[in-house]
Amino acid sequence: MINKKDKIFWKNKKVFLTGHTGFKGSWLCIMLNTLGANIYGYSLKPKKKSLYNLARIEKIVKKSFFNNINDKNKIKRAISQVNPDIIFHLAAQPLVLESYKDPINTYETNIIGTVNILESVREIKNSKVKSFLVITTDKVYDTKFKKKYKEDDKLGSGDPYSTSKSCCELICESYRKSFPKIKNILSTVRAGNVIGGGDYAENRLVPDILKATIKNRDVILRNPDHIRPWQHVFEPLYGYLVLSKKIYNLNLPDEFANWNFGPNMDSCKSVFFVASEFKKKLPINLKIINNKKKLKENSFLILNNKKSKTLLKWKPKWSLKYSINKIIEWNVKIKKNDVFKISKNQVKEYLNLRK
Ligand SMILES: NC(=O)c1ccc[n+]([C@@H]2O[C@H](COP(=O)([O-])OP(=O)(O)OC[C@H]3O[C@@H](n4cnc5c(N)ncnc54)[C@H](O)[C@@H]3O)[C@@H](O)[C@H]2O)c1
Repeated sequence: MINKKDKIFWKNKKVFLTGHTGFKGSWLCIMLNTLGANIYGYSLKPKKKSLYNLARIEKIVKKSFFNNINDKNKIKRAISQVNPDIIFHLAAQPLVLESYKDPINTYETNIIGTVNILESVREIKNSKVKSFLVITTDKVYDTKFKKKYKEDDKLGSGDPYSTSKSCCELICESYRKSFPKIKNILSTVRAGNVIGGGDYAENRLVPDILKATIKNRDVILRNPDHIRPWQHVFEPLYGYLVLSKKIYNLNLPDEFANWNFGPNMDSCKSVFFVASEFKKKLPINLKIINNKKKLKENSFLILNNKKSKTLLKWKPKWSLKYSINKIIEWNVKIKKNDVFKISKNQVKEYLNLRK
């Protein structure tokens, strides 16, 4: 049984979601739909091969605005028209390698796009938004130390993607400090490397493995020793819901403005470990190559999740191995079944653990 209090809270809440056509956004739509919320989305059109299209997410979205987040007038008009209770801002250029190829688009989308939505909420006179989460990343920290990063650790710069997200953090802090209207509703959230069915992004480990299985190709590992905080996508998404509800009901004080939703230590493993776990179950061959282009990515990233566990009573539920099983199960089942139904069943199974 899904947590009754969750169902009561989310029922008919107007939720405005940017990035709803993406991987995390599509799963968040399914989760919110399962809890009875009314979903409004603002994104670019979905990619042809996407969870959004496969699961026909458009069926569960009240209204989609297919526009650019960099168009301030359009995002403001959309929020004004919907007049939501809650906002989740996920729209972004989310790929490190792509950010090296096109830093300007990455900075524009991730930084100016975030300013545009913050400004919209600030400017709309009768806005009833009571909770507003900006989704950043585990990559915002100054990662020169091999440690578990806590929310108040120093932010850093590195590749254009990570830097754009650190900038988002600072901009959100500035909005909280400068504008009383924003102060008590806004939080930034930092999750780990999320995995799950329906991710078709380029140069991400799990999509690469699944593609290699279908195309009978080697899985190329660029940085096999890099340690990452792997977690099933449902884990941080549920964390966003818990936090959002808390802010909506309570107005959290300043020092609680940033949150890590990372996995436990036993899920912080190397790229090679994760690929090898898939290899136990799928007919794939792993090929390690030198990262010749020398495009730097942090070699060690672990999030300290104590604050979310203590103050929000959120904690990870699915182990890395179980998450890998669920991804394989999703990919097998969707070959013969309705993708939305399979996806919703996985969400329900997960929500049932959150009594
Ligand atoms: N996937 C991960 O491992 C991970 C980890 C940490 C943080 N994040 C963050 O989570 C969020 C979602 O990531 P994802 O993996 O679902 O990415 P995704 O690429 O699957 O989805 C990105 C979404 O943003 C929208 N978008 C991109 N550019 C836009 C623009 N200019 N205007 C309007 N919409 C635009 C897309 O249409 C899509 O809906 C991002 O903010 C990302 O930085 C992802």
